Parts: sequence; C-alpha cells; structure tokens
Amino acid sequence: MFKIGLDLGYGFLKGINEEGKKVLMPSLVGTGSERTLSRVFGNGSEYDSQEVEIEASAVARDENGSLKEFTASGRYFVGELARKESRIPAFAFDRNKIAHEATMVLIGVGAALLTDRNRDIHIVTGPPLKYFKEQKKAFEQILKSYNADIAFGDGTKRRVSFAKTTVFPQGAAAVYALLTFNPDLWKPGSAIILVEVGFKTTEILTFEITENKTIVPVSSASDTLELGTSNTVKDIIDAVYQKLGVKIDSAMAEECVRREGIVYRGKEVGLGEVIRKSRRDIARTIRDEIKLIIGNRFDFVNCVSLAGGGAADLFEFFSDFYDDVRMVDDPQFANAYGYLEVAKMLDEDL
Ligand SMILES: Nc1ncnc2c1ncn2[C@@H]1O[C@H](COP(=O)(O)OP(=O)(O)OP(=O)(O)O)[C@@H](O)[C@H]1O
Ligand SMILES: [Mg+2]
Repeated sequence: MFKIGLDLGYGFLKGINEEGKKVLMPSLVGTGSERTLSRVFGNGSEYDSQEVEIEASAVARDENGSLKEFTASGRYFVGELARKESRIPAFAFDRNKIAHEATMVLIGVGAALLTDRNRDIHIVTGPPLKYFKEQKKAFEQILKSYNADIAFGDGTKRRVSFAKTTVFPQGAAAVYALLTFNPDLWKPGSAIILVEVGFKTTEILTFEITENKTIVPVSSASDTLELGTSNTVKDIIDAVYQKLGVKIDSAMAEECVRREGIVYRGKEVGLGEVIRKSRRDIARTIRDEIKLIIGNRFDFVNCVSLAGGGAADLFEFFSDFYDDVRMVDDPQFANAYGYLEVAKMLDEDL
C-alpha cells in the first residue's frame, strides 16, 4: 500500500509520500473562475496543479447519529492561486475542519499530488490534539468513505479514495519526527517537551519514553494554545495601520512578514522591529504556559524541542530557556513526516 502523511494545517497543507515527495501550499480554497491573467504572464505551469475540477463526496454520522453527506463539486482554485485569483478564498478556519467543503477539496488535491497514478493509499492524518477526542470518529468516517474525481489544470486526472486510513493527532505526530531525527532522545526514562508552533495553534506536548521504549504522553503537561505565526500577521496589520493609516489584508501582511517591510508610495518602510517584538511576545506566552503546566517537573526533562512552521522564527527566543533546546529538522513538515512514520510502523505490523 502506498503511504502518505497529510497535515491539514490551518495555514498550510503539508504532505509527504513514502518516496519522499512533498507538497506545501496555503490551506486556501476559492471558487475558480476563468483563469486568464496568470496564463498571459506565462507562469501557467506552476499554477496548473492549483486549478482543479473536482467531484468529491464522503459521509459521516453527526452527533445525533444521522448520516450526513459532505461534498465539494465544481471548479476550485487552491493554494497560491486561490490567494491570487479567487475573490473570497475560504480559509478552512472552522474548528470542525473535516466537515468543511475546503477540506474536502484539500484532502483530494493533497493526496492526488502525492501519488503518480491511481493506487491503493494508506493515508495518515488527523485533527489538532485538543480536538482529537471529539473529531476522531468523524475524521475516520469521512476518510473511509472519501471518494473524489479530480482533474487538474494540466489535464492530469486522478481518482482518490483510501484503502487504509489512520487518524492520529497533529502535534503528537511531530514526536515521531523528533525521535527519528534525534535518535539519542529515544532512550528509556527520557522526558521531552515538544513545542509545535503552527499558523493558528501551538501544541505543547510533554512525553516520556518508558523502559520498553514506548511513548507515553503526559496529558496534564500538554496543551493546545490558540496562537501561532498568524499573531505576527495580525501585529503587522495593526502596525501598518498605526504607521501609515492604511488597512492591509492578511495576504499582504504575510508578504510584509516575509520581506520585513512594506513599500508605501514608493518608500520602503521597515517592519523588522515589529516582527521581532511580535515573535518575542509569542515566545514569552509559550514559555510562560510551559512553566505553568509543567510546574515542578520543568527542571527534570531532557530537552525542549521546537517544530512547526513557526519553529525557526521563535528559536532564538528559546535559546536561553533550557540547556538543551533543539529544532526538529525541516520543522514545518514535522507532523507530515511523523504521519508517514506512523504509516510505516503500522504497515510493518501486518
Ligand atoms: N516555505 C514556507 N512556506 C510557508 N510558510 C513557511 C515556510 N517556511 C516557514 N513558514 C512559516 O510557517 C508558518 C506556518 O506554519 P505551519 O505550516 O506549521 O502552520 P499550520 O500547520 O498551517 O497551522 P496550525 O498548526 O495552527 O494548523 C508560516 O506562517 C510561516 O511563518
Ligand atoms: Mg500545524
């Protein structure tokens, strides 16, 4: 069975297949109209995989036990193309993401881009840790019944369904990436704090490695915080309004974060300080929360590790936090990579 790990983040979709191929795109889905401009400017090929015609459906039982059908049907723009050309790109921002039309599209597109032909797929994915209990069933039902016919802008056609599905919490998946990349931590008696900083949420996860090398999460010392790199985007919007009196949208603010400034009427206005302060604030909140939930055990763990797309941004603000502070390799893909590891472990057992 062909194994894929798919991390349906609030900000970005990350995926990796067993051959190491990766996908990364903003979790944006918009209704597609005729695409003209980007073709004129000749960058059609990059966007061809982001223009899709899709017929997707799945069923799940709601809280009352009655069957509900979820669908996505028609032409959509996804990722960067949605950001550029759709009037209302729909962030899959609902808490209950799995039931969202945008998620129905992203699952299919992500899986299709990770497979070179129609094949038997084992998908591993899941909700954030905090919602795992309440959403696990719905995730399972939807993935099991998921069925999509997809045609990309370049003519590629794919039929996506899943021969095997595994639902595993985000954040916890990153633990497997951490331990794979840092085998020295995989030793009996270790206690490790993993901080997974995403776009909208940050997972704090404390876990121990037992004598027989299994991973045991310490739930009293784990938490999901509603904060992440999008806080910096918000801070930029506020700062630009204060400095220049203009309201920019979040896509533009994300661009400002990347280039650490904004051009306003021909003048370059630096925003480096705003960004640094914002990141320092995010790091401080996370640091305080770790100390609060971990309490007396704080001095007795082996290492504090950072993962998620925000890890690199915050790393410098954690250097004085603990003696052993590490960043997981390729931190934004830690969950996706961990999902793939989970798939490998489960398929080995067969
Ligand atoms: N190549 C890249 N492309 C996009 N974002 C990147 C890249 N490298 C680092 N980042 C950072 O990663 C952040 C998003 O992190 P991540 O993908 O982990 O979030 P997410 O998983 O979508 O969010 P959440 O976990 O809250 O659902 C961006 O805001 C940006 O700061
Ligand atoms: Mg994430």
